[in-house]
Amino acid sequence: MELEDITVVVTGGASGLESATCRRLVNQSANAAILDLDNETAKALEKALGRKACFCRVDVGNENSVKHASQKVHERFRGISALVNCAGIGGRVKTADVTDGDPVAFNRQTRINLLGVYHVILWVVSMMKKQPQSRRRKGTDNKRVVRCSVRRAGGPWCICLG
Ligand SMILES: NC(=O)c1ccc[n+]([C@@H]2O[C@H](COP(=O)([O-])OP(=O)(O)OC[C@H]3O[C@@H](n4cnc5c(N)ncnc54)[C@H](O)[C@@H]3O)[C@@H](O)[C@H]2O)c1
Repeated sequence: MELEDITVVVTGGASGLESATCRRLVNQSANAAILDLDNETAKALEKALGRKACFCRVDVGNENSVKHASQKVHERFRGISALVNCAGIGGRVKTADVTDGDPVAFNRQTRINLLGVYHVILWVVSMMKKQPQSRRRKGTDNKRVVRCSVRRAGGPWCICLG
């Protein structure tokens, strides 16, 4: 896949699989927008990756925060080509017999792992739809692929190509 100069938003980009994704993207001359809650780690990664990387602090569970970060990335790189939507938290919450469940944990899980995915798709893909085809990922011909799976341990994954 031709990645040179495309811009990819990576939520949860500060650590784990997502930070490896950011490194790989920048190594292949793409721009990586790191959207994460974790200031310190993300700033260090941004510095290590240089001018092709941009960190925006975001709480994916907060729609306004996602909206502002999406706009900032769009302005900085003059477009967004693709989204790797992986910010999330682990842990288990009871969904079968909730009478002895933990409502605080359930609220946190759904806010980050469910609403977070929704907010990011809403704002990042909205930006992608507004821009001319030439700024989207080469070769997608206006098609959009959305893939999302929620694994047993809780973290949602979503990949959108616009
Ligand atoms: N690694 C696994 O085995 C595994 C298994 C199942 C699900 N998952 C899920 O897959 C995703 C990636 O896994 P990983 O191991 O690289 O995770 P990770 O914990 O290393 O990275 C998750 C990132 O998301 C960020 N984040 C958490 N809450 C956030 C919020 N509200 N707003 C913005 N950023 C937030 C964290 O700061 C962190 O940088 C995660 O969502 C995880 O829950 C991972």
